[in-house]
Amino acid sequence: MANSLTIAGIHAAYGAVRVIEDVSLKINGGETVVLLGTNGNGKTTLMKCIMGMVRPSEGTIVAEIDGIHHDNLGIALVPEGRRLFPMLTVEENLLLGAYRAAARAELVRNLAVCFETFPRLAERRHQLAGSLSGGEQQMLALGRALMLAPKILLVDEPSVGLAPILVSRTIDAISEMKRRYALTVLMAEQNFNQAIRIADRGYVIVHGKIAFEGRSAEELNNNDLIKKFYLGL
Ligand SMILES: Nc1ncnc2c1ncn2[C@@H]1O[C@H](COP(=O)(O)OP(=O)(O)OP(=O)(O)O)[C@@H](O)[C@H]1O
Ligand SMILES: [Mg+2]
Repeated sequence: MANSLTIAGIHAAYGAVRVIEDVSLKINGGETVVLLGTNGNGKTTLMKCIMGMVRPSEGTIVAEIDGIHHDNLGIALVPEGRRLFPMLTVEENLLLGAYRAAARAELVRNLAVCFETFPRLAERRHQLAGSLSGGEQQMLALGRALMLAPKILLVDEPSVGLAPILVSRTIDAISEMKRRYALTVLMAEQNFNQAIRIADRGYVIVHGKIAFEGRSAEELNNNDLIKKFYLGL
């Protein structure tokens, strides 16, 4: 699998406020990598840089998809807070996920993929997104990302606002999506114990800098920053 993401020395700011400072990270094909960081440390900004929604002032971001270099083609983001259209139906939200021309050509097939992956969405295809439960809304946000038939999936804090049982179901759904569609995954999370269930390895971002790189789940588990910020030890 040659679907990797390489971020090298990026800096990003909102006006005079510097948010990302010299961040380098690599996600190899088929890996699930977790980006850990407490509130306001730059997780979402980094994801926006990868998606081209925030332009870094320095550095490079290269996605390699099937051996070809791209900017952000083939990458789908499941945004923080889901960002659904509450007054549109489940199906309409999914269709809007296929916003790239290439994805529109595969609309029918990808919709079937979403419904197969999340049967609950098929049952509720005509229900308004705003009336779904929190867990169902997160499934819809994940399904909407599948409408781009991505190779690399970015998931920004999928556990936010969900009850513990729904958090573990959502994390399982991400792992299942990754397995089924051979995705490469970068997931921002604050729920360490849940993220670590599916992550191969990860990074801790503090004040916009990579403060620690854990090369395995075990290295993350044993790290002092993790113990302090996430495990209350
Ligand atoms: N559009 C913006 N304009 C100005 N400052 C911003 C903007 N978006 C984010 N910031 C600031 O950038 C910093 C990093 O924010 P970011 O959303 O990337 O953090 P985060 O790690 O995703 O936090 P959270 O866990 O709360 O989602 C914060 O100090 C935030 O206030
Ligand atoms: Mg965020």
